[in-house]
Amino acid sequence: MNKNDIIIKIKRDHINRYDTHPAIIAIAPGRINIIGEHTDYNDGFAMPVAINKYVFAAISKNTTNSINAYSDEINDSLFTSLDELISYKGWHKYILGAVNEIFKKYNIKNGLNISIFSNLPIGKGMSSSAAIEIATVNAILKLFKIDESDKNKIRICQKIDHKYIGIKSGILDHSASQLSKINNVLKIDFNREVFSYVKMKPMKASWILIDSKVKRELVNTHYNQRVKECEKGLSLLSNLYKKEISFRGISDKDLLAIKDVEPILFKRLKHVLDENNRVHEMEKFIISSNLEKIGKILVDSHYSLRDLYEVSCPELDYLVSLSSKFKYWYGGRIMGGGFGGNSINLIKQGKEEEYYNYIIKNYKRKFNIDVDTYKVNFSKGVEIIDNISAD
Ligand code: GLA
Repeated sequence: MNKNDIIIKIKRDHINRYDTHPAIIAIAPGRINIIGEHTDYNDGFAMPVAINKYVFAAISKNTTNSINAYSDEINDSLFTSLDELISYKGWHKYILGAVNEIFKKYNIKNGLNISIFSNLPIGKGMSSSAAIEIATVNAILKLFKIDESDKNKIRICQKIDHKYIGIKSGILDHSASQLSKINNVLKIDFNREVFSYVKMKPMKASWILIDSKVKRELVNTHYNQRVKECEKGLSLLSNLYKKEISFRGISDKDLLAIKDVEPILFKRLKHVLDENNRVHEMEKFIISSNLEKIGKILVDSHYSLRDLYEVSCPELDYLVSLSSKFKYWYGGRIMGGGFGGNSINLIKQGKEEEYYNYIIKNYKRKFNIDVDTYKVNFSKGVEIIDNISAD
């Protein structure tokens, strides 16, 4: 279904379910991350971009004292009283987190009907969680005519992750979903919270995602542990150098002080420093459309995520090593939080089908699993539709 068909469907379903048409539909895209992994909560840099897979949140007010929501994809509903906003399970937490945070901040009390629709695969490293947060937060704010800055919207979403979901995420995913512009890659400086755009010229290559089918649940993985390890590494350095040390103030040489005493922490910090350098390099090579160099950076990032940050898994390592034997593969790596999900790959234009067949056949042979493949198309950030007619 294309975007317009989904809008028609979501509107019709909303009317059938709640007996009123939605006042607002917010459409939030998922994202890929070209480079800059695990740098967002480490004051670093990254280059994500929104893709043409979305979460749709349709919303209307109701006169009862309840929050009603329905997810088409999960085929599950939520019904809870405003006086007792309890997070029950999975996706409910995103909705109630958004309602709670916005209602508290703006002292709102009003019943809501919400319909969620998504064509963005869940748990695959394409940021379905951030997209549901961005869609719901934008929809609620628009419904109550609250003019919140993009940065504050992103912050509200991050708070939902921290407080309701339990993941100490950075703002990479939310920023891409909120702020992307068509034909541009975002470059984010997380330390200064500066968002700039790098124009992506048409390249004779395609961005391809391969879903390893290894399901990644960030809450149950070592994501939060990595966050803590980086904090610990920095505080160790601060003690050693007797001054506050941040990622912006250290060099490779400074890191050597903990190499022998805390080899694991050393590796985590080293990844972050190297990955930040890769982001700057990537910017140059995207501007000059240097496919070989872009590919090389992706592969270096994979090795760093595998060996230094240790967030890869055998299936993703295999996908990268298998791909490296494919003649028209410029490079690729594990994408997102890690521990499974997708690899992102840059393939010579016209060779996509050949690549799919090669990967599907060999991955099946090795793991007896059928991979999914996606050709990525870039998208703009969140879109809000507010002129919805009753017919
Ligand atoms: C997940 C998190 C992001 C970011 C990435 C790793 O997607 O939600 O905030 O940390 O992992 O780069």
